[in-house]
Amino acid sequence: MDKPSWKDFGFATRAVRAGTERSDFGEHSEALYLTSSYVFDDAEQAARRFQNQESGPVYSRFTNPSVQMFEERLAALENAEECVATCTGMAAILSVCLGLLKAGDEIVTTGSLFGATIQLFDNFIAKFGVGVRYVPLTDPQAWKEAITPQTRLFYLETPSNPLLEIADLQAIGQIAREAGVITVVDNCFCTPALQQPLRYPIDLVLHSATKYIDGQGRVLGGAVAGLGTHIEKIRQVVRTCGPTLSPFNAWVLHKSLETLQVRMRAHSESALALAQWLQSHPSVARVIYPGLESHPQHALAMQQQSAGGAIVSFELKGSDADALRQKAFALVNATEVFSRTGNLGDTRSIMTHPASTTHGRISEEARARAGITQGLIRLAVGLEDIQDLQRDLARGL
Ligand SMILES: Cc1ncc(COP(=O)(O)O)c(C=O)c1O
Repeated sequence: MDKPSWKDFGFATRAVRAGTERSDFGEHSEALYLTSSYVFDDAEQAARRFQNQESGPVYSRFTNPSVQMFEERLAALENAEECVATCTGMAAILSVCLGLLKAGDEIVTTGSLFGATIQLFDNFIAKFGVGVRYVPLTDPQAWKEAITPQTRLFYLETPSNPLLEIADLQAIGQIAREAGVITVVDNCFCTPALQQPLRYPIDLVLHSATKYIDGQGRVLGGAVAGLGTHIEKIRQVVRTCGPTLSPFNAWVLHKSLETLQVRMRAHSESALALAQWLQSHPSVARVIYPGLESHPQHALAMQQQSAGGAIVSFELKGSDADALRQKAFALVNATEVFSRTGNLGDTRSIMTHPASTTHGRISEEARARAGITQGLIRLAVGLEDIQDLQRDLARGL
């Protein structure tokens, strides 16, 4: 039977049904294909497969059924032509760069990025003669003005990590399209359950699947989805250079997508309630959450996203950097429910001090550019009872 066209189905149906391949055993839940290579019927078939004269599996660095099932389901959720999976989110970003850029090209991006992405661009991609220009995420005109004849890629996250700034996907995407520039959006904080960047003039959407796609803090993974012509170039990098997703992780991530929408709605509901409560706390100077009306880009966020997401950031009151760092450390140390870990995207709530952890290794200048102060705390709100989270924060604050 032909596979259905997933475009005709709702998100929840695609999340549980798209990308399922059934073996001859007729298993209902997807099988896990833990194999590094595949056997051929005869030497002639091996020759045909290796020379691309016959389709079919050869080796798991190239293709694996568990990885393909995950890629197909994520492509269906992002409304993408194609998807390629990688072993981590950083591997996805690296593969995009290796697949789409050459020496002399330029990336336009923003300081409002995950710290390791900035490090990847500044310390590694730049070594190969690719220029990087930083502009404010929220100012489409600045993106336009940064374009030169060498500009090949716009790279951004929305909402950004950890300050939750919102990029105008329509405006920035349109500017890029008119200039023939490829746009890549890291959709890690929202996932396709809350935001689908490919509905705008955006070419590629990228994930650290380690975060909300897994959603339970178990495995690492990454993916890029979008226009088939770009994905094919990125896929060649993955196949040749080897940042391949393991079949086991792909199987976990494929199954996790089935609960993505219900998890993201529950995370967002609790995050909004916690953000509202923090806003009225006397020790808190400012709460940053796209779902709050006080967020400077609330209207844009609610246009692009169906909910605010799980991440809430807030600044402690005070002005001296050392004193703020001490207060932030005291809060992190006082927690009994929130986990002290650098990750996000888990059923368990997590508290992070970005200036000393996720953004601790970037230069002071890059940190200032990203607006990350010593008094900033990032919460990744999990699925515990909201009263327990409030009580835990109240004690530390
Ligand atoms: C927004 C964002 N993008 C990319 C990454 C990198 O993903 P990974 O850790 O899977 O390599 C992270 C990791 O925290 C992230 O927060």
